[in-house]
Amino acid sequence: MTEWDHKPPTPSDLGDHEVPREGDALHEVRIALLVTGGIAAYTTPTLARSLRRQGADVQAFCSGEALRYVTAETLEWATTNPCITRLTPDAEHLSDHAPFDVYLVAPASYNTIGKVVSGIADTVVTASIASALGRMEQGRSTVLFAPTMHGTMHNQVLVENCRRLAELGVRVIPPRDAYGKHNLPREEALVEEVTEAVTRLRAGRSVR
Ligand SMILES: Cc1cc2nc3c(=O)[nH]c(=O)nc-3n(C[C@H](O)[C@H](O)[C@H](O)COP(=O)(O)O)c2cc1C
Repeated sequence: MTEWDHKPPTPSDLGDHEVPREGDALHEVRIALLVTGGIAAYTTPTLARSLRRQGADVQAFCSGEALRYVTAETLEWATTNPCITRLTPDAEHLSDHAPFDVYLVAPASYNTIGKVVSGIADTVVTASIASALGRMEQGRSTVLFAPTMHGTMHNQVLVENCRRLAELGVRVIPPRDAYGKHNLPREEALVEEVTEAVTRLRAGRSVR
C-alpha cells in the first residue's frame, strides 16, 4: 500500500472541460449522443469524452427516463454543449443550423427502439431520431443504435424491431453479452463503430 505524500497534482495546460486528444479519427465530426432510459445512461458522460478524444463535437439529447440515471449537467460538462432534454421552439431536434453527421443512440432502450420502428416521435429523443432517419435516407447522416437491456427483455418483438432498424439502414451495434444482460459495448468499441460509420458515410456507403 502506498501513502499519499500530500503534494498537489502535476500542473497541466488542459482546461477543466478539455480532453487529451488521442487521434483525429472524428475530426470535425458532429455527433448527437441520444441517451435513453437504460441504466447504462450513467456511463454516457465518459463515452462522450472518449468520442471527443478523437476530435468529435458531441451534443447530448436525453429522454426523461434517461435523466433518472444521468444528469444533464454532467453531460453538459462532458460534451461542453447544452444537453437537450425536451422539445423546444429552437427545434434542436432538427438541428438545421448545424447538422449532425452521426446519431448514436446509446443506450437504446427497448421502449425507444419500439417507438422508432412504429414511427412514434413523442419525445426529444424519438423526434430527433425521426429527423435522423430522414437525413440518413438522404445520405447526409449515419445512425447507430446500441441496445441494452435485461435478458428477460430479449423477446421476438425486440428482435423484429432491431431487424427492421437494420433494414432501414441503421447500424444496430451488437450488445456486449455479460451477466445475463445486453450491456453497452466498451467505449473503445463504440468509438470504433462510430469511426467506421463515418468512413462509410463519407464513402457514400450504407451499413447494408
Ligand atoms: C433501474 C431501471 C433500469 C432500466 N434499464 C433499462 C435498460 O437497460 N434497458 C431498457 O430497455 N429499459 C430499461 N429500463 C426501463 C426503461 O427505463 C423504460 O422502458 C422507459 O420507459 C424507457 O423510456 P425511454 O425509452 O423514453 O428512455 C430500466 C428501468 C429501471 C427502473
